[in-house]
Amino acid sequence: MCGIMGYIGSGNAVPLILDGLARLEYRGYDSAGIAILQGNEIQVRKKEGRLSGLIEAIGQPPAADLGIGHTRWATHGIPSDRNAHPHQSCDERIALVHNGILENYMALKKELCEEGHRFKSETDTEVIVHLIEKYYQDDLEAAVREALTHMQGSYAIAVISRDEPQKLIAAKKDSPLIIGLGEGENYVASDIPAILHKTDQVYILQDEELAVLTADRVAITDFSSAPVEREIFKVTWDPVSAEKGGYEHFMLKEIHEQPRVLTETLRGMIGEDGSVDMSGSGAEHLLREVKKIYIVACGTAYHAGLIGRYAIEKLARIPVEADIASEFRYRDVLWQPQTLMIVISQSGETADTLAALREAHRHGVPVLAVTNVVGSSVAREADAVIYTHAGPEIAVASTKAYISQILVMYLLALQLARPRPEAGDGIRRLSAELLKLPAQVEAVLKQEAQVKALAQKYQDVQSTFFLGRGLDFAVAMEGALKLKEISYVHAEAYAAGELKHGPLALIDHGVPVLALITQSHLVDKSISNIKEVKARGAVVIAICPGNLAGACAECDEQILLPDIDDFLSPLAAVVPLQLFAYYMAVFRQADVDKPKNLAKSVTVE
Ligand code: F6R
Repeated sequence: MCGIMGYIGSGNAVPLILDGLARLEYRGYDSAGIAILQGNEIQVRKKEGRLSGLIEAIGQPPAADLGIGHTRWATHGIPSDRNAHPHQSCDERIALVHNGILENYMALKKELCEEGHRFKSETDTEVIVHLIEKYYQDDLEAAVREALTHMQGSYAIAVISRDEPQKLIAAKKDSPLIIGLGEGENYVASDIPAILHKTDQVYILQDEELAVLTADRVAITDFSSAPVEREIFKVTWDPVSAEKGGYEHFMLKEIHEQPRVLTETLRGMIGEDGSVDMSGSGAEHLLREVKKIYIVACGTAYHAGLIGRYAIEKLARIPVEADIASEFRYRDVLWQPQTLMIVISQSGETADTLAALREAHRHGVPVLAVTNVVGSSVAREADAVIYTHAGPEIAVASTKAYISQILVMYLLALQLARPRPEAGDGIRRLSAELLKLPAQVEAVLKQEAQVKALAQKYQDVQSTFFLGRGLDFAVAMEGALKLKEISYVHAEAYAAGELKHGPLALIDHGVPVLALITQSHLVDKSISNIKEVKARGAVVIAICPGNLAGACAECDEQILLPDIDDFLSPLAAVVPLQLFAYYMAVFRQADVDKPKNLAKSVTVE
């Protein structure tokens, strides 16, 4: 995730900004940059790669009392010196850093280019600084305010102008930004760890607020210029928990980020008619007249692919095979014309997934990548990319990347279904349902205490089963993987109807069975399976929506989901399973964020 650090005051801006950025390194980034005011010039230095490269390029830090810095996690445009922030106006009078995604940047860029603005990068961010330049008439605050009225999307920005050396302007919507208060100096940062070693007194900016910082004063107003009285928040976290936003582990932080991640991934994907429209994604050309799809991935990403298979076959009526990349690459595939391969990879670097992609290319089959990392190998080699916008995932166990992957699977299914006239109403209805997801996942997160209590109760078990039918089976597989990888408890996922063909022999007194029951049309079948395991002494924990609670009454425990469309239920149902795995690992004193034997990115076969 991008990091912002800005400074105004009597100290030296350069080391203070670089130090702040270094404290945000844990968030992940691919390039870094800084802009400072020296005399009446803005000096900018930017470097792809680690912060150490930027520090080396700067050498002896020049003196400055105003500056902004940034660590970039690419979203628009590859990681490069040119695309790194800060970006500058044509006349280099204004410099800006930005976190977030500007949705309408293409339309704005076209307009600005026609008006003569010259762009140097491929980023959405550069549009903002040109927009401010367009409205600048010797008043930076007024120009920023005007620019904000034209911006759609999420943003946290920090802006300086060489003509107003005593001022730093910050504004935000849907992307975090805080202000650190010092003595004769003030800071702006995207996150508390950047400034915590300097001050524990902060203002937390709210959406649609703008702050004007000088060395001695911070004035906060809303976007309509009305003054805002903000109480100072005194940070009591130590620096290590501050990195995790106050959560004990990155995994828990990332689980809680999921509503926001869904909002980010949905951005720009719903057209004016209210239905999914991926025409702005650059992938649309690959989705026309497709007759066969292979979805190929590893681990959690493969589980997202299984949901993609259900969703695409149901909505678009195109045959789909979902395959494990390490198997796919060695199987003698019967390639047919008009085939598309979709690869899913959080890191974009997984060796087997990359090999499957190359195998498709060897047979002239185009590949669409769904990945979280701009500029990754998978993103570079694929014919088109859809980004998941989950932000860097630090915990080894994937949570927020998975939820954004399954959301993209639904978006793709809806896009692929568009040519089917009979799908029209369904597309519009489901598109509207997608917009409710962030709030629904937020509601599931409210069950955390109950899930934690269940994990405490069952922390000593040796073995668990996860059962489901249809989409629920795909979620069960992900739930079992999460539990085994971080808590080291044996966990098996089974298609509920398959149990009696062998694994039922393992069900014994006290074995927890987590039963996913979200598909109304399969509920009777699932209840029969529950009876089978209960008769053999299993303890059944049902994960079901409130409207199926009655049907699941004989389960020993219930975790209730909000009433969500059956078809979209995986997006809610996986959340209690992530929390269950997390708390099981915590109670068993496992290293949650770095489970033994596992690596975040598997770049070897
Ligand atoms: C499990 C997990 C792994 C990854 C798998 C693929 O929590 O994270 O199973 O999903 O290694 O990784 P990517 O998505 O980077 O290709």
